[in-house]
Amino acid sequence: MIAPKLVDRLHACQKLVVFTGAGMSAESGIPTFRDRFEGLWANYDPEDVATPRAFRANPQFVWDWHVQLAETVRKSQPNAGHRAVARMQDRIPQVTVITQNIDNLHQDAGSKDVIELHGNLLRIKPFEDPENRPDEIDNLVICHVCDGYADYEKCDPYAAKEDFHSIELRAGDVPRCPGCSALIRPDVVWFEEPLDLETQERAFRIADRCDVLICIGSSLEVMPAANIPIRARWGGAAIIEVNPEPTSLTFYADAFIQGKAAVELPKLLKLVWA
Ligand code: OAD
Repeated sequence: MIAPKLVDRLHACQKLVVFTGAGMSAESGIPTFRDRFEGLWANYDPEDVATPRAFRANPQFVWDWHVQLAETVRKSQPNAGHRAVARMQDRIPQVTVITQNIDNLHQDAGSKDVIELHGNLLRIKPFEDPENRPDEIDNLVICHVCDGYADYEKCDPYAAKEDFHSIELRAGDVPRCPGCSALIRPDVVWFEEPLDLETQERAFRIADRCDVLICIGSSLEVMPAANIPIRARWGGAAIIEVNPEPTSLTFYADAFIQGKAAVELPKLLKLVWA
């Protein structure tokens, strides 16, 4: 499966990064994005459902699409791969999961340090329209309920933060912030949006300094996330890739484990630490 030298690297590893994409959760029943037939982008154009432009044009359609995905996510459970990743914490002093997934399954499996590059579908936030820049609003304030930019004159001083925290991504009309009336959206990163800067910098910093990076179930087609395994490589880390299909990383990897995450990760765990 992997060479004895790499087994030794894992035994000696102090800082492990587990970098994951949609393939990690495939066996939990959550579709990947780019599978030719069943992937989310096989049936929908991301431009229509995962951009600020799409939400501005048709908030209800975008909300409903995310509600459907959230229902799938809520029904799903971590698989044997998520659990194997969590168990690596018992063997290695510092394990950081850097995930592009928005499904919370690493946390549900027990991983403690999870960096969510693309947000989390089970959280919501106010929609701050990039086309309607806050500096163009007179009476600009930070809404005391949702913490988004708001027009003072439109804010309800009697609304409370709890009213906002009780909002969930559920079927029905797109909710609005009880304070400033901003439309509510899922707390995920859409196309054309930057990653949260602090999150990105922390992920880069940790990847730059890790000893081993295991890349699981990502096509590595989306930047800047796809930079992370390469940065780890530049920093001198050993790279292990788990994926049924080769990717642009495979050539640079010290080991390519061809197969499904839920099958191969428990095997890797057993091989190295049994
Ligand atoms: P993709 O759908 O692009 O790639 C999924 C990868 O998982 C492919 O390389 C598959 O070969 C692999 N795969 C499929 N089944 C697997 C299994 N059982 N075990 C292991 N690997 C498997 O998903 P991502 O690379 O995560 O962004 O996509 C990156 C980003 O593109 C997503 O976070 C999302 C999307 O647009 C945003 O929403 C911002």
